[in-house]
Amino acid sequence: MRLKGRSAIVTGAGQGIGKAYAARFLAEGARVAVAEVDPGRAASALSELEHLGEVIVVATDISDEASAKRCAAEVNERFGSIDILVNNAALYYDIDNQDNSFEYLQRVFNVNLHGAWLMASAVAPFMVNQGAGRIINQSSSAAYMYLTPPTGNEEFRELSSFSYSQTKWGVIGLTKFLAGSLGKYGITVNCISPGVTMTEATKKIVPESLMGMITFMTAMRKTLQPEDLTGAAVFFASDDARLVTGQVLCVDAGMAMPG
Ligand SMILES: NC(=O)c1ccc[n+]([C@@H]2O[C@H](COP(=O)([O-])OP(=O)(O)OC[C@H]3O[C@@H](n4cnc5c(N)ncnc54)[C@H](O)[C@@H]3O)[C@@H](O)[C@H]2O)c1
Repeated sequence: MRLKGRSAIVTGAGQGIGKAYAARFLAEGARVAVAEVDPGRAASALSELEHLGEVIVVATDISDEASAKRCAAEVNERFGSIDILVNNAALYYDIDNQDNSFEYLQRVFNVNLHGAWLMASAVAPFMVNQGAGRIINQSSSAAYMYLTPPTGNEEFRELSSFSYSQTKWGVIGLTKFLAGSLGKYGITVNCISPGVTMTEATKKIVPESLMGMITFMTAMRKTLQPEDLTGAAVFFASDDARLVTGQVLCVDAGMAMPG
């Protein structure tokens, strides 16, 4: 058990990759708070996870400052510390890729990027007091894909907002700025960049017709399962990574290969 006695917040752990992070952290001996905006997803995750260890649900909207602060205070109160924050939640299953309005672009930024900042800001005072903490952000191979997939209609109509990809590129920058400012307090900040992972969200969002092409774009000709990502999160949260900060680890079967 590599995380015995640690307490972790996993945002968006109501389904998909976040739920897999929560399950693995519990198996590694951590106490886990599922910080989720959707009550139905939170309840169903709780019933799947509770046999694995000490897990609680904290109703949280990461894009709301007061809600993020309430989440941190409640987890600290109930667990006695906040050792790990996994900023996993994002608009992905629920994203509207057809909405190119500026208003919607701001909404996606408010959740996917600013939500990660709000959660980091909410937990930072507790981690600073402890003199230790781990923040793990979640980017995406979509951050590195600068060409949008062919639509069959190349006539210019309107510029896409690239909302999801822009926010995921922003998460990489946020990781480095947070790492730079929180390192002196014993807090590391790192980032996982998953490749295409076969969650319900991917099945809904990525057209079936593109899956073959996307798989071909990986060195290993593979898509991922949520469980394939959990080892990277455990590494960043564990003592093995105590001097690793500001890093992005692409777990994507060899798709982005930056750096
Ligand atoms: N699945 C993939 O292929 C893939 C690839 C790269 C990166 N990612 C990233 O991994 C993360 C999880 O992906 P997933 O496939 O499980 O997505 P998902 O959409 O199924 O899960 C996201 C979870 O976040 C929750 N959430 C949304 N807005 C929230 C808010 N304001 N406050 C709190 N919770 C909120 C949702 O209710 C949901 O439970 C996301 O950050 C996604 O961008 C996914």
